[in-house]
Amino acid sequence: MPSASRTAAMAFYDAAVLGAPKETSDVFNAVERVREKFARLIGATANEVTLTRNVTEGLNMMIASLDWKPGDNAIVCSDIEHPNGVYALYNMRDRHGIEVRFVSATADYAMPVETIEKRIDKHTRVVVASSVTFATGARTALARLGEFCRRQGVMLLVDGAQSVGALDLPVHASHVDALAVGASKYLCGPYGLGFLFIRRELAESMRPAYLGRYSVDLGDAHEGVQGGEQYQLMPGARRFDLGSYNYAAASAVDASLDIIGAATVPAIEKHVMNLSRKLDAGLRATGLPLISGSVADHQSHLVIVGTWIPTPEDLQLMSELSAFYAARGIRVSERMGRLRFSFHLYNTADEVDAVITATREWQKLPLLAKASS
Ligand SMILES: Cc1ncc(COP(=O)(O)O)c(C=O)c1O
Repeated sequence: MPSASRTAAMAFYDAAVLGAPKETSDVFNAVERVREKFARLIGATANEVTLTRNVTEGLNMMIASLDWKPGDNAIVCSDIEHPNGVYALYNMRDRHGIEVRFVSATADYAMPVETIEKRIDKHTRVVVASSVTFATGARTALARLGEFCRRQGVMLLVDGAQSVGALDLPVHASHVDALAVGASKYLCGPYGLGFLFIRRELAESMRPAYLGRYSVDLGDAHEGVQGGEQYQLMPGARRFDLGSYNYAAASAVDASLDIIGAATVPAIEKHVMNLSRKLDAGLRATGLPLISGSVADHQSHLVIVGTWIPTPEDLQLMSELSAFYAARGIRVSERMGRLRFSFHLYNTADEVDAVITATREWQKLPLLAKASS
């Protein structure tokens, strides 16, 4: 998170300490500013964005608000999809009798778009897919998948946790129906705030699973006003808004989105892809197994070291390598026995060189010394 974002969050807390009134203090307007800035980032409009706590809440809000009928099905690639999206579907299976239809990842660990297309039938309501999978770093061919789903009248719900902010995702051009994102990863914000994009026409055909005062259109009336038994839902995705917002997090993300917006996502994408290709080539030359980037089309800004099904020995080695990196100030995420390098606008080519040098140093250590280094 940039220090400017911390300063912005602190400005909110300073105002809160002084008892700033919600009706007149500018610090509360950060919510509408971030809604607008997030929409711009993905080529949508502010009315197509609702605020959430995180990715999981966004996915669940969307999935739980569908009018499921027993026998409907939802398609997901559980090999590489995040568990949060998969559990949201299990919940619908157990509450509404839907079928969760699984497809396996491709041989190069990517979202199996062709297989998904074949598995769609007249009972398919939704396909859940990550823009970049957290498990293997593969980038999904969303434009193709989206076009197919749209033609079949199937909703495409995208988990954008691992890419939005670093890679461009123009939602309308990619035929994405809904997109859940959290602020804490590539939006460079704190935890506790997320965004859910829902295509306007789709949002307006839906009835949210939860309803609160902010979901209802009462013009400029105060939030405490009872509108009566007959009510009109807010336009677009705003009908999914509920109670008070995370204003401090919104203030922080407001500043983060200014930095990302000034750099521009297409320029960030070019930068992170250059770093990722450089690291991929450098690590490949060391002989380490790389699960990411096996196929050029699927390469993303994530580079993942490890194997598809790690042996106990692989797990041990990966955890030792991770500790070796950490001791040299190199931070990687260790997931499912694999090490994930994730790039953003602040990373540099020198850092990539440092990783490759550290890897070679680690490889030169005798086996027993590796454990204690
Ligand atoms: C692809 C993906 N989806 C969802 C999540 C969970 O995000 P959140 O904690 O914001 O719900 C993560 C977290 O790492 C993720 O990588």
